Amino acid sequence: MKHEVNNPRFARMYPRLAAWAEANGAQEHRAEALAPASGQVLEIGAGHGLNFPHYPSAVSSVTAVEPEATLRDLAEEAAHRASVPVTVVDGIAEQLPAADDAFDTVVCSMVLCSVRDLAAALSEIHRVLRPDGRLCFYEHVRARTAGFARYQRAVDLLWPHISGGCRVSRRTEIAITQAGFTMKHLRRFRFPEGRNPAPTAPFVIGLAQPR
Ligand SMILES: C[S@@+](CC[C@H](N)C(=O)[O-])C[C@H]1O[C@@H](n2cnc3c(N)ncnc32)[C@H](O)[C@@H]1O
Repeated sequence: MKHEVNNPRFARMYPRLAAWAEANGAQEHRAEALAPASGQVLEIGAGHGLNFPHYPSAVSSVTAVEPEATLRDLAEEAAHRASVPVTVVDGIAEQLPAADDAFDTVVCSMVLCSVRDLAAALSEIHRVLRPDGRLCFYEHVRARTAGFARYQRAVDLLWPHISGGCRVSRRTEIAITQAGFTMKHLRRFRFPEGRNPAPTAPFVIGLAQPR
């Protein structure tokens, strides 16, 4: 199923867009999402490596999958500055370059919105996790209020074309439980907060385990 993820314009834009979020709360969100991570970690769609400084000391190694060449190069640079050993590899979530039961932790942050086939990606995550492993996630999701969700579905007619395939109306947390995970923790919040929320504002930070 190998498919190309070739979004050079998005790849050039993303580090600049992310810088604002990092300075305004995303770093704290990443630390919160990654706190339960331990052992051998597989991070999916690592981008330019913004999670790397936030891995706790219980993590022994990180394999960071990133399919976009420009972001992968930046992730390799960031890996040198990481607090734990990080190896960056090419690959896609829907066909992970990993054996069954190979990892203690899988990490997804703002990537399950962008994978082409969410169900296939979650099935792969389930496959590569040990039975007692965990999925740590930090994702924007569909709002629970009907009006906001309608707005997100309308935005999704255009958004994926300008944001590297990202969709704002995915019910990612529901897809995770449908893919054979038990939700151990889920915190919902809006980021950034404000009177006129961005279509990506409804966020979740969570922890799920294979059932
Ligand atoms: C919004 S960026 C988030 C990057 C990073 N996870 C972070 O938290 O900053 C989305 C990432 O998902 C990656 N991506 C897109 N489609 C993918 C797929 N099918 N499999 C794995 N990663 C994918 C993109 O290349 C990009 O790095």
